[in-house]
Amino acid sequence: MKATATAHPNIALVKYWGKRDQVFNLPAAPSLSMTLGGLTTRTSVEFLPELATDSLELDGEKDVQGAKLRRVSQFLDLVRAMAGTSLHARVQSSNDFPTGAGLASSASGFAALALSATRAAGLYLDERALSILARRGSGSAGRSIFGGFVEIYDGVYTRDEVDEPLTRRRSETDWSAEEASEMAFARQFAPPEHWDLRCVIAVTSAGEKDVGSTEGMVRTQQTSAFYEPWVQSVPADIERARAAVLAHDFDALAQVAEASCLRMHASAMAAEPGIVYWNATTVSLVHRVRAARADGVPVFFTIDAGPQVKVFCPAHALDACRDLVSGVQGVRQLLIAHPGGGAQVE
Ligand code: PMV
Repeated sequence: MKATATAHPNIALVKYWGKRDQVFNLPAAPSLSMTLGGLTTRTSVEFLPELATDSLELDGEKDVQGAKLRRVSQFLDLVRAMAGTSLHARVQSSNDFPTGAGLASSASGFAALALSATRAAGLYLDERALSILARRGSGSAGRSIFGGFVEIYDGVYTRDEVDEPLTRRRSETDWSAEEASEMAFARQFAPPEHWDLRCVIAVTSAGEKDVGSTEGMVRTQQTSAFYEPWVQSVPADIERARAAVLAHDFDALAQVAEASCLRMHASAMAAEPGIVYWNATTVSLVHRVRAARADGVPVFFTIDAGPQVKVFCPAHALDACRDLVSGVQGVRQLLIAHPGGGAQVE
């Protein structure tokens, strides 16, 4: 009744921002990412008859309570229902990178938890089922089950086979969220060794973000005039980004990834009250990266629900990329990642 698993975070190149259904944590649109090797979450789960409640240890902090424990417990309820058990679990999880600052620790966290908890409960799910389960914990976590270049569907747009076009299979209203949830799985479309990209993560603030992604998404959906146009724009971006990755076309990927990031943030900024995840250093980095690209350095940026900036480059341009990022005032720390593998049992 004990298992340990590792998973890596991932960074979306076409962003996920907004849910079609809260209960099934169903995304409103598909998204596309690269899994980040070099940054790892390691999670152990043990179901024990003597426990009266679930317990959580996070990065060495024992007996974590409150919202974090509730979120883990609710996730374990899904695993308990699948396994037909009522046992509580002891969960220990640690990241070798900063938590809660827009580095998508929830992605690697729920991917590692999905795999370790199901194995500890004696369940052997295939990767598709695991990605659906991990997605219930955190939308981006479904993608971290797989390594390399990954897409996740929203239950409306799907691809029957990995090489077929993304097509709208359903209207948004003619089936239940529960059915759609079973179609909202992730899939690898290119392995890590397909393209030797690097991701330089510029940490511009060590604090936890003010507005969590779920709250930010709900507020954007409820109040932003730019939310619907954002959702409508995503499927075409998925096709462009996927084609760019498959063709190793860095310039095309740069264009669509920056556009997707800026559209996502524009929709959030237009909420009421507007959600601004950026600080001054974030904005300086955006300009620095664009100026360098205009000068012929192959780099592009993307930004998630926090102030950190992730700068992508081909491996051969890593030194130039690192120099230009570390030259921006306010950058506190750099983390370097490369395409990584999927979640694994230890
Ligand atoms: O998985 P969540 O609920 O933390 O949402 C992630 C949202 C973004 O990181 C901003 C975008 C993405 O697709 O990862």
